[in-house]
Amino acid sequence: MNEIVAKEEIAPNTYRMEIRHPRIAKKRKAGQFVILRPHEGGERIPLTLVGSDPEDGTITLIFQAVGHSTRELAALEVGDVVPDLAGPLGRPTHIENYGTACVIGGGYGTAPVLPIAQALKDAGNDLIGIIGARTKDLVILEKELGALCSRLEVATDDGSYGHHGLVTDVLRKLLDEGVKIDFVLAVGPTPMMKAVADLTRQYGIPTMVSLNPIMVDGTGMCGGCRVEVGGETKFACVDGPEFDAHQVNFDLLAKRQATYKAEEQQAAQVEPHCKIGLDR
Ligand code: NAD
Ligand code: FES
Repeated sequence: MNEIVAKEEIAPNTYRMEIRHPRIAKKRKAGQFVILRPHEGGERIPLTLVGSDPEDGTITLIFQAVGHSTRELAALEVGDVVPDLAGPLGRPTHIENYGTACVIGGGYGTAPVLPIAQALKDAGNDLIGIIGARTKDLVILEKELGALCSRLEVATDDGSYGHHGLVTDVLRKLLDEGVKIDFVLAVGPTPMMKAVADLTRQYGIPTMVSLNPIMVDGTGMCGGCRVEVGGETKFACVDGPEFDAHQVNFDLLAKRQATYKAEEQQAAQVEPHCKIGLDR
């Protein structure tokens, strides 16, 4: 169990990994995540379950090697074993037929959008997709989302592919054009989710976001993932990770996400854990 059976770099520093875990592969639902450690004594990393193959007993994760721990995970190869992997965690996405649902992914935050888009599609929604990245080579899952959406718009910050601008520029354009959108789901950087929420609020469109706060235990015990939603404290790991975007205190979330920035930058300078001593 927990053996890495496939690994692919799908964009610079962005990896798709398939890991054998028959129980999670069978149980997981859209919106849920796992917490894993790349080696004994390593840091716990929360990652959205992007997909699974219940027949084969494998789960799919997509992550960007941005910090020390995700670089350690990226250093593992097919055949290596992830020593700790807990899940499925979090509440599954609330799915219903809204009519036309717009799914928005920013950067590698596009990965968690895929299983939710699939579930929304299965429930009968017509899907419009908007995905954005800084540059063309960082656009991920265009083909996979393209297969689910009746319309998929791509935006890049530098204009190297698709629309020149942010995902919210595209959303604003669609809304200004009078495109009917009954529901929005957005996942990506916190400023992006806040910008989407500010826009859809003006149009009265129900909007969900998947939050990505600091997590430790993933079971509601440590309080690390606390977020403020509708003036109340919630734990993203057990009450979320998805919440009504119009109720989220994004400024507090951004502040809490930056708590360990200095330590994270320092840790990123350290070479990933050497493979000697890994549970293989
Ligand atoms: P990025 O900073 O490159 O941004 C990606 C895209 O988001 C941009 O191309 C743009 O279209 C949009 N965007 C960014 N800032 C915006 C703003 N202020 N207003 C409107 N649109 C904006 O993203 P990245 O470096 O690939 O990082 C991905 C982010 O997704 C990370 O912050 C990560 O925490 C988050 N994420 C969240 C989850 C989750 O489950 N919630 C999972 C994975 C990643
Ligand atoms: Fe500890 Fe959510 S991660 S309470």
